[in-house]
Amino acid sequence: MTQTIDYEGRILETRATETVLDALLRSGVDAAFSCKGGSCHTCLMQCQSGTVPEAARRSLPEHLQRLRYFLPCRCVPVGPMKVRAPQPGDLVTNCMLCETVLQDDGSVILLIEPARTIRYRQGQALQIVNGAAHEPRARITSDPERDMLLSVQVAAQDVAALGEALQPGAEFGADMQVRGPFDERPSQELPYPDPDPQLWTLLDEGRTMRRVLEAFYVKVYADPVLAPFFEGATMGRAIDKQFSFMKQCITGEKVYMGDRPRNAHHWMIITHEVFDHRQALMLQTLREQGVDEDVIARWTGFEEYFRPDMVKSYFWPRQVGDQLIVNDGFSPEVLGESTLCDHCQGEVMAGETVLLHRRLGTISCERCADLAQTVA
Ligand code: HEM
Ligand code: FES
Repeated sequence: MTQTIDYEGRILETRATETVLDALLRSGVDAAFSCKGGSCHTCLMQCQSGTVPEAARRSLPEHLQRLRYFLPCRCVPVGPMKVRAPQPGDLVTNCMLCETVLQDDGSVILLIEPARTIRYRQGQALQIVNGAAHEPRARITSDPERDMLLSVQVAAQDVAALGEALQPGAEFGADMQVRGPFDERPSQELPYPDPDPQLWTLLDEGRTMRRVLEAFYVKVYADPVLAPFFEGATMGRAIDKQFSFMKQCITGEKVYMGDRPRNAHHWMIITHEVFDHRQALMLQTLREQGVDEDVIARWTGFEEYFRPDMVKSYFWPRQVGDQLIVNDGFSPEVLGESTLCDHCQGEVMAGETVLLHRRLGTISCERCADLAQTVA
């Protein structure tokens, strides 16, 4: 009997006795698979609704069964199913540590042999399972087409969180587990959040907001961490843009013309620390301006909502729908004359490729710009 499968919004029909995997492949879905016999677990998917036949799940570990994971290559559906690709946070892979290499900047490269094939792309992130609530994230530096071993780079500030067994000089063959891989770049721009019109009234129909923003941007423009981002941008414009954007978020009225945070900040490397720093400055300003704590929480909630669309460790291209627009705002250029990088002040030699920020005219050396990622 044919059954209807909803794969991430794509509707397809299975043929009689056909597995979900075969139906997906027949429909042109780039589904991962290897053995097609229930052994390798490469084809793993999650069932969001519908019945998972026993044969499609019994070989999976219990925690994955509880999360309704199943093997599409062993699944001849018995009714309609809604299914999706595995969620990276659910996927833990046992690995063997082969080598740890300490870098000059204090970061550490781990060379790892996973016990099963991990489907990844260079530049994605893995979390190192350490038994704690906060798992350090590591950027994948190996290329799956070229490299036998998986290699990941752990930033200097996260090395301690790796635990003793994975410190530089760790023993060859130590067991470890990784979670993921995760895409650092969200695949879709965040939509506007639900409005909170009452908040606008509490902000004196926006008058309090303007007062706060005026005081806030004076601090931003004098702040050694934040000011460099605003080079070449007038304070008045920054205030106006922020005001109308926040007004649109809070009231739901269409008053803002401009990019949402993802594209507005696509060229800025805003780390969690930089973002936290901005939010601390905002909190300080809101309190200095006598804003009520409840109003502060609701205001900053809107800003926090957009955090995943701004925080990143490499440049993102602009994105319109599914289209990535790589060369808007910045472009790779080969340097004619030696100069200094505008970010790290390190020397960049003639002939090296740098990232030119077109609006600001600033350049970033390869180390700061991580050019390889811009076109990922
Ligand atoms: C550390 C955090 C942030 C930094 C460094 C930053 C930096 C900037 C810079 C430099 C601009 C360009 C200003 C101009 O060209 O006039 C900008 C624009 C903007 N930012 Fe931020 N920003 C941060 C956080 C936020 C947050 C939390 C929001 C709101 C949720 C936000 C919303 C906007 C908007 C709406 C624009 C205007 C975009 C446009 O011109 O079309 N930013 N930001
Ligand atoms: S392809 Fe190997 S388990 Fe499904």
